[in-house]
Amino acid sequence: MEKTSSQENSYIFDTESAIEMARLIDQARFMNREIGGALMGLPELAAGTHVLDLGCGPGGWVLDVAFDRPDITITGIDISEIMIAYARARTRTQKLSNTIFEVMDITKPLDFPDNSFDMVNARLLTGVLKRETWSSLIAECTRILRPGGFLCLFEGNEIGVSMSPAYEELSGYILQATWRVGYGFSPHGRNWAMSAALPYLLRQGGYQDIHLNSYITDYSAQTPAWIDYYRNNEKIFLQIKPLLIAFNLLTSEAFDQLYQRALIEMNSSEFTCVAQAIRAWGYVSKTA
Ligand SMILES: C[S@@+](CC[C@H](N)C(=O)[O-])C[C@H]1O[C@@H](n2cnc3c(N)ncnc32)[C@H](O)[C@@H]1O
Repeated sequence: MEKTSSQENSYIFDTESAIEMARLIDQARFMNREIGGALMGLPELAAGTHVLDLGCGPGGWVLDVAFDRPDITITGIDISEIMIAYARARTRTQKLSNTIFEVMDITKPLDFPDNSFDMVNARLLTGVLKRETWSSLIAECTRILRPGGFLCLFEGNEIGVSMSPAYEELSGYILQATWRVGYGFSPHGRNWAMSAALPYLLRQGGYQDIHLNSYITDYSAQTPAWIDYYRNNEKIFLQIKPLLIAFNLLTSEAFDQLYQRALIEMNSSEFTCVAQAIRAWGYVSKTA
């Protein structure tokens, strides 16, 4: 299969960065917790089922499912060599025998035969897929899903809504820059509009019996989730700095000042921030 280097890839961050990998390890842990478990609220998967996770990162979702369901097989694919190596190492240390991890580019035709999977999962790919590439990936999911299988998409609408001026200013620049790169479906770039886009994409792809689940998490000061959110944003903000400068949204000095002010706000006992995410899933429309 033709390989795409990390430099040519459309991910917002460097896929071979250890900082990004560390961020994704933590993020998957708190996301899985916030949604009440990796498969919570989804149709029951029969023993022997085969599940695929697209853009699996260091494998947080896959490993949780594999641990909970030793009777099913879960494949995780990601373009990042270091993340796949880490996920394989975790599989060994956790003594799991029901995971497969492969390096693969999800913006290209997927290297799986037709009708291979009973469930395909894709979480937090807004910063991976430019808006015009979603439909071709969903068509690939249709091809590799078995009749009766389902596709599950999970995304956020924005970074989080707060009442803190520096944090909001920085979030605004991030939304603007990511929109200019081509991420999200908003007409203006003030959010990513993924809660509208996910059911739209599933319907456009011919999926049926579409279900929507909304997740609202309180990341305010003194909540249990605050520290995870703080650490996650600390790394997101720093990694996104070059993009904000490239788009002339901020100078390097202005970014550094705004970043420090945003961190101070997030550290304040008054910090109030809520983030919304949506999960949309539906059944593939095809017959045996
Ligand atoms: C925000 S992370 C999501 C990680 C994981 N889905 C989760 O929920 O924890 C996006 C992932 O997509 C991967 N990625 C970026 N471009 C990709 C591509 N073209 N093909 C496959 N994976 C890609 C990145 O390496 C990263 O691990």
